[in-house]
Amino acid sequence: MFTLKSFFLIVIIICELQTSNTSVSLTIRKRKRSTNVGVVSLSNFKNVIFYGEVSVGTPPQHFNVVFDTGSSNFWIPSTLWSTKTTYPHQKFNVKASKTYFPVSGRKEYDIQYKLGALKGTLSQDNLMLGGIILEAQDFFVGSKPDYHFTTVKFDGILGLGLPSLKIAGTNTVLENLEKKNLISQRIFSIWLTSRKGKVTGDEVQNAGQIIFGGLDKRHFRGEHVYVPVLSRKGFWNISMSQISVNGRDIKACVPQCFAFVDAGNTDIYGPKEKIMKIYAELGVTSKDIACSKVRKLPAISFVIGGKSLFITRNNYAYVYIDARGAKRCAVRLLAGTDTWVLGLAFMQATHTVFDFQDLSNPKIGFAKAAP
Ligand SMILES: *[C@@H]1O[C@H](CO)[C@@H](O)[C@H](O)[C@H]1NC(C)=O
Repeated sequence: MFTLKSFFLIVIIICELQTSNTSVSLTIRKRKRSTNVGVVSLSNFKNVIFYGEVSVGTPPQHFNVVFDTGSSNFWIPSTLWSTKTTYPHQKFNVKASKTYFPVSGRKEYDIQYKLGALKGTLSQDNLMLGGIILEAQDFFVGSKPDYHFTTVKFDGILGLGLPSLKIAGTNTVLENLEKKNLISQRIFSIWLTSRKGKVTGDEVQNAGQIIFGGLDKRHFRGEHVYVPVLSRKGFWNISMSQISVNGRDIKACVPQCFAFVDAGNTDIYGPKEKIMKIYAELGVTSKDIACSKVRKLPAISFVIGGKSLFITRNNYAYVYIDARGAKRCAVRLLAGTDTWVLGLAFMQATHTVFDFQDLSNPKIGFAKAAP
């Protein structure tokens, strides 16, 4: 897709060079904008979380971060990070970066998630996002992780939620991208698969992609349907009109329902009563199900902007081995929220475009993902 586009632009430049001088600057500007697309390849860890590599500092130090659409701060571990972690973590050495700036000095902020918390000092440095260089990006140099963050595989979290979720007085990555006008289109697109690629341990590499400033036509089918983002709370929250199981409307959205798209969450969450309706249609009573049922689980569809987006049992059911070594099965549909949360179980079936052309009026586009 990118090669085709550059070819097209080269043709434009040649044509315009022949016509007049004034158009030259215009096409050069066009060319500069079009090449500013940042592509980050994502790894799938146990089908539970996806992350990809970014770099911070001069010379660059590399980190695996979760691109989380359900939060808006960006942090990476520092050399003050606890040494006892389940997996080795990359740690940012502030002294080794020529472009590092300690914004808050020693003042520490609390960064909190539903699961996990840490402390961090507010800092600025250059962030490399798949080829795009965002200068003076605010981020937190993390220390004092709680137990949760000592057990995770990834190094840090790069929040791509909307500004109202950020710690006050900081600039999020999306705000910085908007301000610096570096990418050709103010969008980012996410494509995630559950396919088996190159497997290293529990990690599948090149299992997905996040593209800042564009989308790759090979990764979806048909057209995207775009819907406006509703809440002022900072989530990529949209209106949904129906949920069907095996073609049967479970009346989940009567009179209305909302959902936010969360790339930092494995599961799909919804109100208890509606999740129970889904379980009833699946012929199960809780998230833990008999393994003999998995094979017969039907497709579930979520209707957004008039388009039915399907997930199949390959997306929402999984098999695991419990502590006693027995094979167990479960579904990724959980009770507990008013607004539906569409995590990886949904996103692995859907190609999603997050449009922040106007950060105060964002939209999301959905299309069927190409496998
Ligand atoms: C989503 O938007 C609806 C409608 O504005 C609102 O009631 C709901 O609380 C929002 N949910 C989240 C998580 O922001």
